[in-house]
Amino acid sequence: MSPRPGFLTGAGAGHEAAGQWHATGGSVGGKLGSSDRSSQWRYLVRLWIGGSLILCAVAWLCLSLDLRIATTGFCMLIVIVLLSLLDSFISSAIFSIVGGLLLNVYFTPPLYSFAIEKPLDILPIAAFFITSIAITSLVRRIRTAERFQREQARLLDQTHDTVFVRDPQDVITYWNHAAEVLYGWSKDEAVGKVVDSLLKTVFLMPKEEVQRVLARDGYWEGDLVHTKRDGSAVIVASRWTLQRDSRGVPCATLETNNDITQRRRAEELIRKSQAQYLAEAQQLSRTGSFGWNVATGELFWSEEAFRIFEYDLTRAPTLESVRERLHPEDVHIFERMLLQVSGTADDFDIEHRLLFPDGRVKHLHVVAHASEATGGSRQFIGAVMDVTNARETEMQLWQTQSELARASRISALGELSASIAHEVGQPLAAIITSGEACLRWLHRNPPNMEEIEGCVTEMTSEGTRAAGIVQRVRRLMKGAPPEHAPVEVNDLVDEVVALTKGEMESHACCLTLQLAREMPVVLGDRVQLQQVLINIIINGLQSMAAVPGKHRLTVSSSTDGDGNVILAVRDSGPGISTANLPRLFDAFFTTRSTGMGMGLAICNSIVEAHGGQILASNNTGGGATFSVILPAAHASIATA
Ligand SMILES: Nc1ncnc2c1ncn2[C@@H]1O[C@H](COP(=O)(O)OP(=O)(O)OP(=O)(O)O)[C@@H](O)[C@H]1O
Ligand SMILES: [Mg+2]
Repeated sequence: MSPRPGFLTGAGAGHEAAGQWHATGGSVGGKLGSSDRSSQWRYLVRLWIGGSLILCAVAWLCLSLDLRIATTGFCMLIVIVLLSLLDSFISSAIFSIVGGLLLNVYFTPPLYSFAIEKPLDILPIAAFFITSIAITSLVRRIRTAERFQREQARLLDQTHDTVFVRDPQDVITYWNHAAEVLYGWSKDEAVGKVVDSLLKTVFLMPKEEVQRVLARDGYWEGDLVHTKRDGSAVIVASRWTLQRDSRGVPCATLETNNDITQRRRAEELIRKSQAQYLAEAQQLSRTGSFGWNVATGELFWSEEAFRIFEYDLTRAPTLESVRERLHPEDVHIFERMLLQVSGTADDFDIEHRLLFPDGRVKHLHVVAHASEATGGSRQFIGAVMDVTNARETEMQLWQTQSELARASRISALGELSASIAHEVGQPLAAIITSGEACLRWLHRNPPNMEEIEGCVTEMTSEGTRAAGIVQRVRRLMKGAPPEHAPVEVNDLVDEVVALTKGEMESHACCLTLQLAREMPVVLGDRVQLQQVLINIIINGLQSMAAVPGKHRLTVSSSTDGDGNVILAVRDSGPGISTANLPRLFDAFFTTRSTGMGMGLAICNSIVEAHGGQILASNNTGGGATFSVILPAAHASIATA
């Protein structure tokens, strides 16, 4: 018989040596001190002498009872087995030899001699010796296995984890000390009970699934809820290990449990406080969160989302609740987003307004990202931010900027006033001259109708010219909100040239126009873009005034490789010093005694608001060039 391998069962022969000195009270396989060693030797000598005397006594008794060698050998075997319980293999071997010698001397002819007459007589002695050795080593093995099992049980009793073993019918076969402490049932009470009915196990996933994983992997771990003897519940982190026999059939399950009730409660508390922090942070940042299942239409809002939409927390949010609050002018933004997400769009990022029954308006920024919900359907997780304050501030800033730009335009027009007056004065003078001529032709007898018609036609065209200039000036002075419309850049240049022509003439400046034939339109505000060009042209004229000689100004339009529109103004002035170059576009930077230093700063902000940039550089042959780069409008938008 060999010990069955498994939980809390003996090991094998390998542990035999380790257990050799147990009976003597010595340490296992360890190094012994000299006093320990001599006391062990004393014990052994006493054991061997005592054992041998007992065997002699058995031999004497059997001899005096005239028993046969077989009976005597059997009696001796019993004594040897009993003696083998007291020590190791060596002692058993010594006793077996002593027993064999006694049988030889007293029971095998010739008697009282070690000699053996017939060779066949050696057989019973050999059989005795082999049987004795075999039985004693078997007994020792069983004892070692038991000791090992006891040792294992002792170790398992020392661990703080609860450990129990159950058979395939879930009946508890082992129950450690920690299990006694945690659950309240003693070993004797627990062993033999069905584990789930004793502990009222609650599985957090179907038990069949747990059994399936255990059978497949031989291991399972997860959380369970058990009920203690006092009726209180305990959450445990449970680890199950399946034990199979030599044929691979499950024979036991080792279950190790850790009490994690406190940890789970602490985690729950943390979760709750995190949720509270999150809610407070959402309130502070005015950012609500939402989840939206596109297929089912289910919508989940955080508390802050309810607050932003100003709905009661008890109301179940739906797309209709959102529509109810939408600003009528922004409904199309929302509907377009719905259309996109019902297609393939994985993200959305929109801004729209809400209009409340009392007339208040809120600006919202909504961003969301698609993910897969349980069941495979698509869901969006997102944030809805109340950006009303930011948008209102932007609006105020934008208003201030456009007022500043208008003030700067009026100031530029002031600088142009003399030349504008001259521009308007010229057609007026021509009208007066034509009017006088017309009167003269009218007073002729008969009136010369042909000449009169000529004069009136001249007067109409001159009047139209003057009205055009006045209209442009009026447009520049207007404080209308910026437009976002297609602008033909070459037309823009022509109009600006018409307004600044007089100024150029008064500066004795020779203007060259290099306009590309087919220019794409740009999207923007015509008046603001004119203002940019006027500012740059006036700057050019003013800087050229400081240098003697011929003044040349070249205004050109072109496109770059990326399809951007470039408007460049090149002058023959002194150019820009390297020190001033980086500061040109700073507000209030000026080198002119009468300048404010706002012209280029305003130009820069206008161009940036149009998505473009403005660059200044010095020409190789002298003078400076200011280039305004604007993104061309998309063809479809341009024709819209
Ligand atoms: N074409 C140019 N050549 C050389 N320097 C220039 C040119 N254009 C602008 N500058 C420099 O840039 C400075 C800033 O120009 P900006 O138009 O911003 O202000 P300003 O003309 O001085 O005053 P204002 O506010 O009346 O326009 C000018 O003072 C000048 O020193
Ligand atoms: Mg200027």
